Amino acid sequence: MTQDELKKAVGWAALEYVPQDTIVGVGTGSTAAHFIDALATIKHKIEGTVSSSEASTERLKSYGIPVFELNAVDGIEVYVDGADEITKHMHMIKGGGAALTREKIIAAVAKKFVCVADASKQVGVLGQFPLPVEVIPMARSYVARELVKLGGDPVWREGVITDNGNVILDVYNMKIMEPKQMEHDINMITGVVTNGLFAYRGADICLLGTDTGVVTLEP
Ligand code: A5P
Repeated sequence: MTQDELKKAVGWAALEYVPQDTIVGVGTGSTAAHFIDALATIKHKIEGTVSSSEASTERLKSYGIPVFELNAVDGIEVYVDGADEITKHMHMIKGGGAALTREKIIAAVAKKFVCVADASKQVGVLGQFPLPVEVIPMARSYVARELVKLGGDPVWREGVITDNGNVILDVYNMKIMEPKQMEHDINMITGVVTNGLFAYRGADICLLGTDTGVVTLEP
C-alpha cells in the first residue's frame, strides 16, 4: 500500500469514534483531509465541526459541513488529527502543516484525541522530525538563540505565515528524551506562542495504518 492509501485507511477508520449529534474537532494535513472526506458521508449525523486551520475549514465547507468558532460551542467530544511523529506513550510532534497552535487549543478542549497516522510516523524517541515552534515575528532571532541553548538547530520556515500571523522555526537535531520537560521549557521562552510537542496533552488513541491493516494503539 502507498503512504497515501495508509493515510486514507486511518482517516476513514476514525469515523467509528465520531459520536452522533456532537461537535467534531478536525485537524490539519493530508491524513486529516481523508478524515474530512469520510466525515462528509455522515455530515447529517453530526452537529458540526471546529477546524484547526483555514485549509481544513475550506475543505469542510466544500462538503457543506458546518464549521463553528471554538468560542461558540459548549465542548468537543472528539478531535481527529494526524501527527508528524508519535510514540507508544501517545506523545507527538505536530505542526508540519504550521497549524500547531490551533491544533493544540482544540486538543486541549476535546474530551478525546484520536490520532490518525501511517506507520512511518511511529518512533521510539521524538525529534528526528524537526520540531515546529510558532513564534511572534519580532521575537524570531531571540527565540532562535534560546533554542540553540536548549540544544537544537532552529531554521526559519521562510515564506510561511501561520493562520495566526506568526512565523515558524523548525528545530533540527533534538533528541527529545523528556517530552513534557521540553514542551514546558520551549514554551517558557518569551515570544514563543507554542511548540509542536504534544506531551502534556497527547493522544488518547492512535489509529496506525500498516500494510496489514489499521492497528489501534493506546497508552
Ligand atoms: C499540521 O500542522 C500537522 O500537525 C499535521 O497533523 C501533521 O503534519 C501530519 O500531516 P500529514 O497527515 O499530512 O502527514
